[in-house]
Amino acid sequence: MVKTEPHRRDQGPEVVVGLDIGTTKVCALVAQQQQTGELHVLGIGTAPSEGLNRGVVVNIEKTVASIAQAIEQAEQRSGIRIERVTVGISGDHIRAQQTRSVIAISNPNREISAADVARLLEDARSVALPPDQVILHLIPQEYIVDGQDGITDPVGMSGVRMEARVCVITALVTAVQNLYRCVERVGLQIEHLVLQPLASSYAVLEPEEKEVGVALVDIGGGTTDIAIFDEGVVRYTAVFGIAGRQITDDIRRGLGIITAQAEEIKRTYGHAVQESILHDEVFPIPGIGGRKPMEISKSLLCQIIQPRVEEILEFVLAEIHRAGYLHRLPAGVVLTGGTALLRGIDELAQRLFQLPVKIGFPSARGGLAAEVAHPMYATAVGLVLFGLEQRRRQPKAPKRSLLQRLKAFFEEF
Ligand SMILES: Nc1ncnc2c1ncn2[C@@H]1O[C@H](COP(=O)(O)OP(=O)(O)OP(=O)(O)O)[C@@H](O)[C@H]1O
Ligand SMILES: [Mg+2]
Repeated sequence: MVKTEPHRRDQGPEVVVGLDIGTTKVCALVAQQQQTGELHVLGIGTAPSEGLNRGVVVNIEKTVASIAQAIEQAEQRSGIRIERVTVGISGDHIRAQQTRSVIAISNPNREISAADVARLLEDARSVALPPDQVILHLIPQEYIVDGQDGITDPVGMSGVRMEARVCVITALVTAVQNLYRCVERVGLQIEHLVLQPLASSYAVLEPEEKEVGVALVDIGGGTTDIAIFDEGVVRYTAVFGIAGRQITDDIRRGLGIITAQAEEIKRTYGHAVQESILHDEVFPIPGIGGRKPMEISKSLLCQIIQPRVEEILEFVLAEIHRAGYLHRLPAGVVLTGGTALLRGIDELAQRLFQLPVKIGFPSARGGLAAEVAHPMYATAVGLVLFGLEQRRRQPKAPKRSLLQRLKAFFEEF
């Protein structure tokens, strides 16, 4: 990648870049936060993705090429030389488990500090994991101080013994390593690695929805990702490898056409519910290899699409059931990811889940904001919002003397 373009300025600390490496597209989103707190989009780059299967990198060369293309476009459009990115991860290798951690409060006056809470979370890292898994996120579910449970924020309270129930989200070591390898090969540094449905939730869920109970369901090309929130906290996450690509594949096989044609007619004429097709129209499909064109009706196409969409939604319902939230989601389900744009999918989901369902559109400001207001970009927008939040949480590093910097340098090696 060209790194010496004179008209590109360095990525200052205020600029965050979200890099969504999906199964069908790679998207790099360059943005910064305005004084008003709104997200200002500076540039976006997208490239078709061919090196992933069901959310996981299976071909390094192709993935590197897609990332480089998306980054180059984002740099051109934003005028910023990208150095650091916040990256999403998904795939059915992701696991979530619960653990408990406990510490004694060291402060002589027994007041619990933020450092104690950090120490408590660190203790959760000692959870027994399969050797091929690595920790992605530690999400505190509740704190227990001297036997008193149900505490959401213990800082400032008094106590001698503090416990926490922690949700530990892990990923396959090799899947993480391959992602790092691809991003680093493009000359970029990964600032944060974020579970994709968590990232998407930042872009499309309201704080009130997370408070009362809501399920975020991101149906992309290769994976369907779920995150359930209650009382403002992530309570459950799951990923499975059936999504939009399978729908396209069913159409391709069912009609004996090529993938690009199947994709095109899915988007143009596809519908998820037979009964709600108001005007059944017939459309032509060009014949392949000199064969005659075919005529297909919308309702015939729907007969191919609907069973697959029902299968995906039934898997989602099973996960909501497994999480114990079947009757505990007053804010219902928010659908996002490219497949959320399939006509009638919200109606089918509502019928199947018996819950309110809406489509999640990420919102942002700036010249390119309209371009990202699309369920497909929920993850990229969410990655930027996640990166900005981490930046706010971590105070700026204090200026260090040369001696301290040198000492730190040698400690690193
Ligand atoms: N209008 C539409 N109707 C139906 N499907 C659509 C429409 N627009 C996009 N899609 C589908 O959305 C999918 C891509 O969604 P998205 O960009 O969220 O996936 P991704 O992030 O690349 O993949 P993943 O997150 O699963 O790894 C494709 O399967 C595409 O066919
Ligand atoms: Mg995606």
